Amino acid sequence: MKRFGILVIAMVMLAACQQKSSTSGNSEMDGFVSDLMAKMTLQEKIGQLNLVTPGGGIPTGSVVSTDLEAKIKAGNVGGIFGISGPERLRETQRMAVDESRLGIPMIFGFDVIHGYKTIFPIPLGLSCSWDIKRLEEIAHIAAVESTADGVFWTFSPMVDISRDPRWGRISESSGEDPYLGSAIAQALVKGYQGDDLGNNKTMMACVKHFALYGAAEAGRDYNSVDMSHLRMFNDYFPPYKAAIEAGVESVMSSFNDVDGVPSSANKWLLTDVLRDMWGFNGFVVSDYTSVNEMVAHGLGDLQEVSALALKAGLDMDMVGEGFLTTLEKSLKEGKIVEADINRACRRVLEAKYKLGLFDDPYRYFDDSRPASDILTKENRTAAREMAARTMVLLKNEKQVLPLKKSGTVALIGPLADSRNNMLGTWAPTGDPGFAVTVLEGFQNVLGDQAKILYAKGANICNDPEFAAKINVFGPKIEIDERSPESMLQEAVSVSKRADVVVAVVGEASEMTGESASRSDISLPWSQKKLLQELAKTGKPLVVVNMSGRPMTIAGEVELADAFLQMWHAGVETGNALADVLFGDYNPSGKLTATFPRNVGQVPIYYSIRNTGRPQGGDTFQKFRSNYLDVQNTPLFPFGYGLSYTSFKYKELAIDKSTISNMDELSISVSVTNTGDFDGEEVVQLYVRDMVASITPPLRLLKGFQKIFIPKGDTKEVVFKIRAADLAFYHPDMKFYAEPGEFTVFVGGDSNASLSQTFSLVN
Ligand code: NOJ
Repeated sequence: MKRFGILVIAMVMLAACQQKSSTSGNSEMDGFVSDLMAKMTLQEKIGQLNLVTPGGGIPTGSVVSTDLEAKIKAGNVGGIFGISGPERLRETQRMAVDESRLGIPMIFGFDVIHGYKTIFPIPLGLSCSWDIKRLEEIAHIAAVESTADGVFWTFSPMVDISRDPRWGRISESSGEDPYLGSAIAQALVKGYQGDDLGNNKTMMACVKHFALYGAAEAGRDYNSVDMSHLRMFNDYFPPYKAAIEAGVESVMSSFNDVDGVPSSANKWLLTDVLRDMWGFNGFVVSDYTSVNEMVAHGLGDLQEVSALALKAGLDMDMVGEGFLTTLEKSLKEGKIVEADINRACRRVLEAKYKLGLFDDPYRYFDDSRPASDILTKENRTAAREMAARTMVLLKNEKQVLPLKKSGTVALIGPLADSRNNMLGTWAPTGDPGFAVTVLEGFQNVLGDQAKILYAKGANICNDPEFAAKINVFGPKIEIDERSPESMLQEAVSVSKRADVVVAVVGEASEMTGESASRSDISLPWSQKKLLQELAKTGKPLVVVNMSGRPMTIAGEVELADAFLQMWHAGVETGNALADVLFGDYNPSGKLTATFPRNVGQVPIYYSIRNTGRPQGGDTFQKFRSNYLDVQNTPLFPFGYGLSYTSFKYKELAIDKSTISNMDELSISVSVTNTGDFDGEEVVQLYVRDMVASITPPLRLLKGFQKIFIPKGDTKEVVFKIRAADLAFYHPDMKFYAEPGEFTVFVGGDSNASLSQTFSLVN
């Protein structure tokens, strides 16, 4: 009897589990999808798992899809990405709706990474704004523009934590910190998806690349990842989890392996963590041919790896057609069961249902919308304002900046008038033709108030072989017909005639991004030389570095009187830069990825743990954890960024010296704008757990607020902290805070020194 009881309970639990994988809690949707699936053949179900591209965007693998028309009509395509335009998409959708047996509509996606046509700064730049509200707004703008052009699924947000600037895709990330990364992930998901996925001005988001892609060994793209579970859960997983909590409807698996198993076939990752631990109930799409690539990973042939992927919890196969061509055979051979196919098919159909496609497959194709919704004046203004907020002032000696709108300005550098490089990496929907160059921005903002003298001064780099690698999708590095010497001479002579020199240097847009890792992250020699020569003129030298990653720029910072890190800033680059340099906007950006002194310090990040032999200060000490040839500290720390004004922090106070698990702590600080300009400051709160059962990081970001303070004014900023905010994952994967002493630090960067302590008791 007792045994029977246990059996009954087990059966009920099993039924509940099966229930969980086949129903969503939305009975109308479940009923609809079940009815539809009852009519589908096996091959039609497999067809829903097939995502194809005709290669209209950026083909990021060695193949693009073929015979699309025939496949669509045969019911062999679940979605398409990389094409746009209401007319074209309506016709493509019509093929599926009118000419396939069951008329199931397709989903249309694109890599809308930092804007659709109104291109905003690259994501790393966006993160430096620390402006969560604006980030949500720009994702909303991207959704409105995309859907106006018929695209309603974006492969964004990319939330991979990265602490390695050699990795080209750090440009697509929000930098190194899980707390900030989580806040940004949530803002972007909310901005894209809104409250109602069925609204035809919102789009489905896809959080990627699950997981750990940003930790590729040696910063080499697509490389293996090997990491402790503690680090995964405490440092790298939080932004993915945050996106899921924000309701993201799709997840993209990553190229790399995790614990030795490529993500696309990693059941622990795609099912145990993603669904069972975090409760995700959307669908998982592979990355571009990442299923096929498991053959090269060494997991078996295409049939084998496709079966592994499906069983692991992968639902949609991007471009490689391993699912399409092998799953039926695998079913016959017993490598998979029909329930595996049904589960994945259901998830894809549910997404279509939520998008409203079964009500109206053409709901996103309105011919009048592109003209009214895309690249509007308002959107361009938002891009300009956002771009200004992403620039980080790293040095400003003797208040060289802001510049006066008078006299003569020499504008020098290979990126000063280079339209093709303004949008930055991963902007396949953008059009460089709409981008405002720096020279144009200066002309727009200065009018005839000041004289502008322009000279290119140097090539981005002089090496044609390197340039060819960068120019795969169009000219980004254009090597001038003039000799490097004559370009330099011109720049020097132009500079001598000016009151101030602004040099715009850095990376071509495709020197970062996918498949653009670098082992040397300094400026190319041609540009270093240019800055050296410009510095020799003795004129005040303002260096603007346009890059997609933190770079090793110690020497160039030294040469400059002022140094502004600007990233690739999007369609309004020139206007936004001129706004900042000429004082119409006071810079407020703060770094979200540490700038190393040299590449040997990489990986480098602020939330380090102490070794048993910590190095105190910058002076070398024998038998301490350090380097013989460089300090441990970075060139610029996480959270760092100057303003034209100055802020003074004082009166850091905590309302309780002891809290229990249920209490909330109020931490207040007063911040005074002590300089001569109104300005915004990112007030940052860090916490250090003084003693714990696993080595605690020296400090962790636990709060931030971006506030505006008029000059001379003081504002009080209050942060709330609860015990849950102090929790971390333990070796047994339990998440809780440990009682003991904590130190809080508040200030304008991760070296904040104003501190107070409190204790957590049981
Ligand atoms: C490969 C990239 O890794 C991914 O981020 C992108 O979304 C897909 N290609 C589709 O273009």
